[in-house]
Amino acid sequence: MPCMIRDARDADLPAILEIHNDAVLNTTAIWSVHPVDLANRAAILAERRAKGYPFLVAVEGDTLMGYATFGDFRPHDGYFRTVEHSIYVHEQHRRKGVARLLLPRLIEAAASIGKHVMIGGIDATNQGSIALHEAFGFSVVGTLPEVGFKFGRYLDLLFMQKILDPGPSGQG
Ligand SMILES: CC(C)(COP(=O)(O)OP(=O)(O)OC[C@H]1O[C@@H](n2cnc3c(N)ncnc32)[C@H](O)[C@@H]1OP(=O)(O)O)[C@@H](O)C(=O)NCCC(=O)NCCS
Repeated sequence: MPCMIRDARDADLPAILEIHNDAVLNTTAIWSVHPVDLANRAAILAERRAKGYPFLVAVEGDTLMGYATFGDFRPHDGYFRTVEHSIYVHEQHRRKGVARLLLPRLIEAAASIGKHVMIGGIDATNQGSIALHEAFGFSVVGTLPEVGFKFGRYLDLLFMQKILDPGPSGQG
């Protein structure tokens, strides 16, 4: 069965939670050591829906393989055309092209609602994520040395950015 991309449903939340908490417990992709609960992920999904922002999932049959979404980059209204995104693939389904399906759909979604810039904040040692973003036209625009701390070491935050074509609804 081929992998397809669709909007997240409430029923997807347990699988989204599992992927999120695996990243918390086992990776430096999320700079927290505290797993969250289902209500936390439900609140994020509800917030994204309320803003008209995408929360995409990659599914193959009943299996949720990964997800991608974005939120506002910073709260002040002058940043309204810039978003910061997240992309996560289940540990058992990496290197199968799932992120290659999700990321362009997220980029399209951002452009279609008039967003101008997408930003990824990436652990500077995350070579997989860096290569993925480079493949889709993101460039490294800056590094903040040692701003994170997890698993007993400081982490450098790499910002990768892509400037999108202006979307049809971009105003203001
Ligand atoms: C980063 C991540 C999203 C990539 O997802 P994926 O579905 O495994 O990626 P794909 O199979 O679609 O690979 C797409 C491209 O990304 C790059 N890539 C992905 N994983 C890589 C790795 N481990 N090492 C090097 N390059 C990698 C390659 O360029 C790859 O293209 P190729 O397969 O033609 O060489 C996934 O590894 C993941 O969820 N990691 C944990 C969470 C995370 O780091 N998220 C990003 C936070 S910024």
